[in-house]
Amino acid sequence: MSESLTEDIHSERFVKLLFDEMSKSYGIVNLFSSLGFAYFWRRVTVRAVRMGGPMVCDVMAGGGECLCHAISAYGRDLRIDLVDWSSVMCGKAQANVDRRQLKNARVLEENALTIPVNDASYDTVYSAFGLKTLSSAEMEKFSVELYRVMKPGGVFSFLEFSVPRSAWIRRPFRLYVEYYVPFIGQIFLGNPDNYRMLWRYTKAFGSCRSVLSNFEAAGFDVECRDLFLGTATQLVGRKPE
Ligand SMILES: C[S@@+](CC[C@H](N)C(=O)[O-])C[C@H]1O[C@@H](n2cnc3c(N)ncnc32)[C@H](O)[C@@H]1O
Repeated sequence: MSESLTEDIHSERFVKLLFDEMSKSYGIVNLFSSLGFAYFWRRVTVRAVRMGGPMVCDVMAGGGECLCHAISAYGRDLRIDLVDWSSVMCGKAQANVDRRQLKNARVLEENALTIPVNDASYDTVYSAFGLKTLSSAEMEKFSVELYRVMKPGGVFSFLEFSVPRSAWIRRPFRLYVEYYVPFIGQIFLGNPDNYRMLWRYTKAFGSCRSVLSNFEAAGFDVECRDLFLGTATQLVGRKPE
């Protein structure tokens, strides 16, 4: 996917098309480019809320890459909604659900900013690598929507690639995300452009610290954690009773 100079990289059209295209190679590129860390970080995402209740939502779920960790945390009978707006990603998520024979899992092809469920539906919400494509205005709407769909006492965990605070770490990390990840993308997708977007989104996002105030303003108790020298950050929060 080549972006035009005027294209808004946060627009619905752009993000959907990007992930529709990337879905073909997403899992394998993720695995190789992160040297296995993506698996570890997804586990960290889910484990942070494993004490949460049994109505779970994986938001911006992609192809359901976190499902294996959700099953370890909550068992095979978990009731889970996987929400993503990319139809191709949702197709992969549905195949993933079917292969694992999860009877209480639903794949919802929907916008994370307007999840079609009642107020106070979920005990537990998580997302791995989902936040970075949201613009500032969308982040504000998302935190309000999250507050609406979560039960009082419910918990959430969001983890995202981040720009490390230390300059010593930032430089090699930037080289890794800006050049190494697209190189792996080129090998598997034959097109590095989509994976080049990762650095653009990461640079614009900064870290979870930059969006923490959105979730506080929405009414959550929330903390930000640094992971692996700040190359990823995590928000862990709770809706007060
Ligand atoms: C980087 S992928 C992460 C997928 C998965 N959570 C993982 O662990 O790899 C981000 C996903 O968020 C989805 N997404 C981005 N913005 C969205 C929105 N507003 N509503 C629903 N899905 C969204 C994209 O379609 C994409 O599948």
